Amino acid sequence: MYNTKIVAFESYLPPRVVTNEELSGMVDTNDEWIRTRTGVSERHVSVGETVSEMCVKVADGLLSKSGISAEEIDLIIVATITPDFATPNTACLIQKAIGAKNAFAFDMSAACSGFIYALSVADKYIKSGMCKNVMVFGAEVLSAMTDWSDRSSCILFADGAGGVIAQASEQCAGLIAEDLHSKGEDGLKLTGGAICIDTPFFDNDKEKQPYFKMDGRAIFSFATRNVPRSIECIIEKAGIAKTDIAHIVPHQANSRIVEAMAKKLDMPIEKFFINIQKTGNTSAASIPIALADMYGEGRLKTGDKIILTGFGGGLTWGSILLEL
Ligand code: ACO
Repeated sequence: MYNTKIVAFESYLPPRVVTNEELSGMVDTNDEWIRTRTGVSERHVSVGETVSEMCVKVADGLLSKSGISAEEIDLIIVATITPDFATPNTACLIQKAIGAKNAFAFDMSAACSGFIYALSVADKYIKSGMCKNVMVFGAEVLSAMTDWSDRSSCILFADGAGGVIAQASEQCAGLIAEDLHSKGEDGLKLTGGAICIDTPFFDNDKEKQPYFKMDGRAIFSFATRNVPRSIECIIEKAGIAKTDIAHIVPHQANSRIVEAMAKKLDMPIEKFFINIQKTGNTSAASIPIALADMYGEGRLKTGDKIILTGFGGGLTWGSILLEL
């Protein structure tokens, strides 16, 4: 039986940086409010780069770091809610760009839990013996779905891409435990990108809703209530102690949510990786971007047990306990 070992980490942030000061000139807000309520100081936004273009940069880095050739990739999964097209899917665009001609490729949509769900799916293809090398991406151009005149959401969202290569391994314990959930009944508390049916057969007089609409307080309490429970659940399933966990890598939604999680779990905040100050909330991209940052800083060691945890639109949430 094979397990899932992560053999390469990579990320890409578009070069255009938007500071809190710049946003303060666009909407009625200020640096102090944004930093104290969210933890964000600056964020990166695309100036025309699409999700697939950012992912191709990530894919090139993954291939060169791992020494794996594009032909050896069996599967490409992209978690995103902002794909270039409805079809072709983003994963097929990446496949074409890098020449991964032996792969099959698809996108997944689970908002800020997207990377967790995608890694879980990759693990099942690896455990079944069907795939040896899987590229898993989380990538977003949330700036395209953001109402830049709405101060309650435009201060949060940002763009970026991250990815890993998950490889079949007989040595590593890999994905040890997971806990995935959805609560569709609360889905309309966070919406974005609504399709507008306006055709020769139907005259739609409803307002178009392409942009994010969010009940921020409801999402905040949903996250602080459910995510600590999910983390406790996988620790219990794995039969280990909290002190065995080297790092918790949470979705970067708001630093106050992470602080509340640490408090509820009675775990030191230092165990939780936070880079939201420079990335903002990049939805499905935030966890793989965080992993690439941690790898670059030398924080991830072979044998470490780490927990990845995501939550957001759907509503969806989930956690994975991984041995590196
Ligand atoms: N600048 C200044 N004041 C502001 C701003 C701003 N940018 N935004 C809101 N305010 C004001 C409000 O109008 C309100 O004023 P009032 O008290 O006079 O009515 C006051 O600040 C407090 O507003 P709240 O909405 O209660 O602020 P809160 O502390 O809840 O912070 C925030 C808002 C940052 C959105 C928070 O609720 C949050 O982070 N929620 C979670 C969002 C999230 O994690 N989403 C993840 C999913 S993303 C995805 O799935 C794609």
